[in-house]
Amino acid sequence: MGRRDRPRARLLGSSLALALATATATLACGGAAPRAQDEDVPEDIRNPTLTLTLAGGESRALTLAEMAATIAGGPTTLEVDNPAYKRAITYRGYWLADVLAAAGVSLDGAGELIFHCADGYAATLPVERFAEASPFLAIGQVGEDGELGWEKVRIGKEYLSPAPFYVVGKDPASYAWFGWPLQVTAIEAMGRRSADASANPEGAPEDGEVARGFALFKGSCLACHSVNLQGGSVGPELNTPRNITEYRDRPTLRAFIRDPASFRARSKMPPFPLLGDEDLDAILAYLTYMRGHKRSVDR
Ligand code: HEC
Repeated sequence: MGRRDRPRARLLGSSLALALATATATLACGGAAPRAQDEDVPEDIRNPTLTLTLAGGESRALTLAEMAATIAGGPTTLEVDNPAYKRAITYRGYWLADVLAAAGVSLDGAGELIFHCADGYAATLPVERFAEASPFLAIGQVGEDGELGWEKVRIGKEYLSPAPFYVVGKDPASYAWFGWPLQVTAIEAMGRRSADASANPEGAPEDGEVARGFALFKGSCLACHSVNLQGGSVGPELNTPRNITEYRDRPTLRAFIRDPASFRARSKMPPFPLLGDEDLDAILAYLTYMRGHKRSVDR
């Protein structure tokens, strides 16, 4: 298996798609999540909790037992060709639409769903592509003996268990742009309205450079970085309390984003060599704009 294991973000343009394809970071929902093996395992592992955050910030927690009790018909089965394993796998779980409905999460007014993984990585799914992805919340893999368990998947150099929750798509093609997040612990609906999304560049014209920069940021950077604490936590928060452009100059930022390893050996950030000058300008315009929009909503 190559070094590129799965896309880490939505692919917005062909240059970005290529940039991501060359990304070398091996971090993708990695980290050590415990697995259920036997009866001795603690309650939080046997009965893991999924936290669902609504656009606007309110959170609801749903345990596995609660899912079983509230979702009509209980868990169902999905067999899908999983590109990460290169073969068909049968999962037990729930259609994510049913889980969201059970938790009272409406997608009206949401722009994206952010899937938070145990290691701080955050995959995004644009709500307008929800139906196309048909996400399925897997709670385990059905083995040949019919028992439920997890088979580790190779991500970079590591073999990781997808537990506690693995979000796969009904159509294997969705893997290419959605990336099927593993070790999911929380799902956050990110509002389309600025008031509901703290990383949104509130007040910026919708067709301007800042908005374009935000779109690029959501597609390539939000998976690992938060702005106003919204987004992943693999890399540093970039706006609060001090905005990154307040303490790093533009040439440094441009060079760093293109090739982090030229600054730091073993950088965990992938290079973005094919991000065009205009793309970088737009991302930096977005980040600079956010200086005036610091909101420390604790999520
Ligand atoms: C796979 C995760 C990942 C992605 C994707 C990612 N980063 Fe990073 N980034 C990191 C990590 C981790 C660091 C911390 C330093 C390091 O490991 O080099 C970092 C550091 C940075 C820094 C330097 C902060 C400092 O200390 O000066 C900037 C700026 C930055 N990232 C911007 C971006 C931008 C812009 C994008 C999108 C084009 C992006 N990152 C995509 C993980 C990521």
